[in-house]
Amino acid sequence: MKICVVGLGYIGLPTAAMLASRGHEVVGYDVNQKVVELVNAGQAHFQEPDLQMLLTAAVTTGQLRASTEPETADYYIIAVPTPVRPGGAPDMSYVEKASAAIAPTLKAGSVVILESTSPVGSTEMVAEVLRHARPDLTFPRYKEEGADADVAVCHCPERILPGQMVRELVQNDRIIGGLTEACAQKALDLYQEFVTGTCYVTDSRAAELVKLSENAFRDVNIAFANELSMICDKLEVDVWAVRELANKHPRVSILEPGAGVGGHCIAVDPWFIVNSAPEEARLIRMARVVNDDKPHRIVERVTRLADRFKNAVVACYGVTYKPDVDDLRESPALEIVETLAKADGLQILVCEPNVTELPAPLAGLNNVQLVDAGRAQRESDIAVFLVGHRQFKRLDPNQFLNKVVVDAIGLVSRPNARGV
Ligand SMILES: NC(=O)c1ccc[n+]([C@@H]2O[C@H](COP(=O)([O-])OP(=O)(O)OC[C@H]3O[C@@H](n4cnc5c(N)ncnc54)[C@H](O)[C@@H]3O)[C@@H](O)[C@H]2O)c1
Repeated sequence: MKICVVGLGYIGLPTAAMLASRGHEVVGYDVNQKVVELVNAGQAHFQEPDLQMLLTAAVTTGQLRASTEPETADYYIIAVPTPVRPGGAPDMSYVEKASAAIAPTLKAGSVVILESTSPVGSTEMVAEVLRHARPDLTFPRYKEEGADADVAVCHCPERILPGQMVRELVQNDRIIGGLTEACAQKALDLYQEFVTGTCYVTDSRAAELVKLSENAFRDVNIAFANELSMICDKLEVDVWAVRELANKHPRVSILEPGAGVGGHCIAVDPWFIVNSAPEEARLIRMARVVNDDKPHRIVERVTRLADRFKNAVVACYGVTYKPDVDDLRESPALEIVETLAKADGLQILVCEPNVTELPAPLAGLNNVQLVDAGRAQRESDIAVFLVGHRQFKRLDPNQFLNKVVVDAIGLVSRPNARGV
């Protein structure tokens, strides 16, 4: 089978290498010349365990090559970005351009699979773009079963977790949403070749909403924990004690509060639901507002406490968007540190074991330094814990007894309730 993977980023590149490792002829199409050159040289352009090994094998055996032009294929997998515009509307321009680019190369029998996380109706939009460009071919319409179209169109959202992508590509369950059942069956044939998890077949709209619901579910539950932490701050109750004891209830499982929600998925995808159903998606919208507000609350708390000192030295532990990665995208911790750094009269010590230099928004600010944990502890008046890196979990809470502590992640202040 020949497969054209459109977009060789975090999702497309491991997918392309995986399909090539199963003996398919794979061409990766990307508009970024640099990415194409690197892939053709057998080099991954981002860090991901086991990816380099898979890619080296795929390129040296000739099963995978990359190009800045799409090619005719049996299967097309679209994995291009779907960011959100300011104000919350999805930016589907990458998917539209990718669809328009592959249209001239389609043949009767081709299967087009949209893997990008997309708002409901996007798979129909892809089919419309293709139909418009190729009047010589027939395309399916949503749930119009019956006459078999020349080209099948499906949505199969991706759920792999950075850091575990290669394993999860194979092991995760998949949702396969066809515009029609015949479309879904054709996509299923491909995924069943390399997925050991269960493939669930449904329609394209359901598949689109499944992916968005997964991330909105996480966002809403994190928002509950973050809101609870703000309520606790106001009422001077220890949120970690409240959470620990509430979770002793057999049907309660409150997540951990934190510095906010970051990354490129959970902080983005719920907006696609809000944008499609603004009147109905009240809770999902409010969760976004609550989580986006959390960094401001932490900044307020730190600046209030800093008033006790003359030129307070504030040690900030962690700037990445989640523990044990070097990824700074949409990081609430970075937003907090940047805002504190720009406040009057604060000296900021950044302790971040996953970076070797200060990230762009902090570099060049003369009141900010990247330091190790020892110096942060010795020289600070206020310790602000923002990201639960494993190195920080080894810190001795007793070292912070003489400091003002703002602990957004329960690192040193988590009490054990006494059960009697
Ligand atoms: N990264 C993740 O962990 C993750 C997880 C699940 C779902 N997703 C979703 O998968 C999709 C892709 O995300 P990603 O992280 O791989 O993005 P990415 O930014 O890492 O890669 C996208 C690639 O597409 C290329 N591209 C852009 N426009 C193109 C076009 N018109 N034609 C061909 N190539 C084009 C870019 O040059 C880039 O190399 C998004 O919808 C994202 O939400 C990502």
